[in-house]
Parts: sequence; structure tokens; C-alpha cells
Amino acid sequence: MTTSRTFTKALPFLMVAVVVLLSAASPAIAQEKMAAKSLYDRLGGTYAIASVVDDFIERLLVNDILNANPAIKAARDAVPKAGLKYRVTALVCQVTGGSETYSGRSMKEAHKHLNITEKEWQAMVSDFKKTLDKFKVPAKEQGELIAIVESTKPDIVVGKMAK
Ligand code: HEM
Repeated sequence: MTTSRTFTKALPFLMVAVVVLLSAASPAIAQEKMAAKSLYDRLGGTYAIASVVDDFIERLLVNDILNANPAIKAARDAVPKAGLKYRVTALVCQVTGGSETYSGRSMKEAHKHLNITEKEWQAMVSDFKKTLDKFKVPAKEQGELIAIVESTKPDIVVGKMAK
């Protein structure tokens, strides 16, 4: 009887304590959930990524620095841009945590005949940043995407001298 009365008295305090504890813990839980979200999800998934790739490739196709390289120009004229956009979208989705599977060639294999130089690489990165800004991709996600792109550089840039 005494025990149950004590418990009844203490109940409101216990409830307040539980509420205080939960509200203190919730920002941490929310942060953990955000950290657990894949880059793919934070970018908005397949359709958002495909839209970014579409804009990016359209920019590259009219980039004079890239088109001054005859090997790039020839490959561009030979390869349907819709296919290229599809392949790049699948690759980006896959490496950022989406369920798509990239079925194209390795970056080394796909670019070795293009003699891509440092100058051309920088022109591509500059266009990529313009696209990311246009789509208002947040700074954190931009950094992660650029790091992914930079990780492919040793396989793509073969021209030693800036042209
Ligand atoms: C200056 C930089 C780059 C240029 C000029 C460039 C240009 C090209 C061109 C012309 C092709 C078609 C080649 C062919 O089929 O003959 C191609 C293919 C491709 N590129 Fe790039 N690229 C560059 C960087 C990148 C980067 C950074 C990525 C991804 C991180 C990438 C992903 C791809 C993919 C997935 C394909 C398709 C491969 C396949 O279908 O097997 N490229 N690129």
C-alpha cells in the first residue's frame, strides 16, 4: 500500500524525467539518421541525379576546351549522348548508394583513347561545379561528389602537358 502510494506520487516526476530525457536525445537521434542517409538519398535519388547528369553533359558537349581535342570531339560525335547520360547516371547512382548497376567499361578503358589533359580535366570540373550550383546541391554533397570525380582522375587524365 505504502509502496504503491509512493509510486503514484513519484509518477508525474518520472514522466517529466522521461520527457526531458527523450527531448534531449532526439536531436542526437535525428543527426544519426541524417548521417546514415546515403549520398544517393541526400541528392534526391535517381531522377534528381539523372537531371544533374543531363545538365552536366549538355555543358560538356559545347565546351570549346574539350571540343578542341580531336579525339574527344570524334568520340562525342560517334557516341549517342542519351547513352552516355544513361551510363554516367547509372555509375553515379551506384557509387553514391543507389540500387542501379553500372554496366559500362572501367574509367581507364572508357577514356584511354581520348588523351585527356589536365587543362581538359579542369574545364570538366568547372562545368560540373556550375551544374551543381544550378541545382543548389548543398556544399557538403558537392564536396562528396567532387571527391568521387577526383578519385577517377588518375585513370582518366593521361596527357602530361597542358594543351
Ligand atoms: C575531362 C573529362 C572527361 C571527358 C572529356 C570525358 C569524355 C567522355 C567521352 C567522349 C566518352 C565516350 C567515349 C567512347 O565511348 O568512345 C566518355 C565515356 C564515359 N565517361 Fe567520360 N569523360 C570525362 C570524365 C569522366 C568522369 C569524371 C566520369 C565519371 C566519374 C566519366 C564517366 C564516363 C562513363 C560512365 C562513360 C561511359 C563508358 C561506357 O559506356 O562504357 N567521364 N567520356
